[in-house]
Amino acid sequence: MDTGMDFTGKIALVTGAGRGIGKGVALRLARHGADIIVNDLLAETAERTAQEVQALGRQAYAVAGDVSSSRSVDAIVEKGLQRFGHIDILVNNAGISLYRPILECSEEDWDRHIDIMAKGTFLLMRKVAPGMIARKWGRIVNLGSYVAQLNCVTKYFGPYCAAKFAIIGLTQVAAQEWAPYVTVNAVGPGDVETEMMELEWQQEGAKRNVPPADVKEEYRKRLILQRLETPDDIAKAVAFLCSTYADQVTGSHLIVSGGLPFTVK
Ligand SMILES: NC(=O)c1ccc[n+]([C@@H]2O[C@H](COP(=O)([O-])OP(=O)(O)OC[C@H]3O[C@@H](n4cnc5c(N)ncnc54)[C@H](O)[C@@H]3O)[C@@H](O)[C@H]2O)c1
Repeated sequence: MDTGMDFTGKIALVTGAGRGIGKGVALRLARHGADIIVNDLLAETAERTAQEVQALGRQAYAVAGDVSSSRSVDAIVEKGLQRFGHIDILVNNAGISLYRPILECSEEDWDRHIDIMAKGTFLLMRKVAPGMIARKWGRIVNLGSYVAQLNCVTKYFGPYCAAKFAIIGLTQVAAQEWAPYVTVNAVGPGDVETEMMELEWQQEGAKRNVPPADVKEEYRKRLILQRLETPDDIAKAVAFLCSTYADQVTGSHLIVSGGLPFTVK
C-alpha cells in the first residue's frame, strides 16, 4: 500500500475554512487522515465544517478568529496547540476579493486586502513555522491565484492582485529560509464556484448590465477545460503539495486554473 497521501497523525490548520475552498481543503485533508484545526472569522461556519470533518471520522477543532490581527492569530494557534500539541500542515486560505477599478478603491479597500491576505499569511507562517522547524517536518500551502503571475491580464482587482503577488513573494522567501524540513508552496486557482466568485459575477453583471448567470456562463465558456472549478479541485492540489509526492517541491506556485489565463479562441 502506497502511503504517500496518508496524513494519519498529522494536524492541519486551515484558515477561512468555514466555506468555499478552505472548507474543501479541510475535508480533503481529513479524507486522507489528517485531524483539522478549522479557522474562520465566523464561528458558526467554522463549527459546521468541524462537524463535517468529524463525520468523516477525524478529529476537528473549530477556532474562530481574524487572521489579520497578530493577537488573534496568536490565540488561534495557541488554542490549536493546546488541543493537539503540534501543527504539521498550515494552509493559508482566508481571503476576500473586491471587483472595483483602482481609481474607485479607498484606502480601506487596500488595507483590508493586504491585511487579511498578505499580512495574515505572514502572521500565521511566523507563528506556526518555528514548531515545524523544531520538529523537522512541515508543509505550508498558501492560496495564490492565476492572476498573481507575470503578464497576467486582469482588470478591477488592484488590491487583490497586489496582495496575491505579496503572498507569492513571501512563499518564495520562506521556502528558502525554512528548508530543508519545511516546504512552502502556493496554489493558484482560476475560477472556482464559491461565494467569492458568485459575488464577482454579481458585481460584474451589475457593471455591464448583464444577469450574473450569463456572466458565469461566459466565464465557463472561456475555459479551455470547459468547466468551472470546484473547491475540491483546489483541495486535491493542496493535498498533493502536502504529500510525499511533493517532497522535492518548494517555493512553487502551482497554477490549478482549468487553463487560465489561456482561453478558448
Ligand atoms: N474562488 C476563486 O475562484 C478563487 C480564485 C483564486 C484564488 N482564490 C483564493 O482562495 C481563497 C478562498 O477563496 P473562496 O473562493 O473560498 O472564498 P470565500 O469568500 O467563499 O471564502 C473565504 C472564507 O474566508 C473567511 N475569511 C475572510 N476574512 C477572514 C479573516 N480575516 N480571518 C479568517 N477568515 C476569514 C470567510 O469568512 C470565508 O469563510 C482566497 O484566498 C481566495 O483569494 C479563490
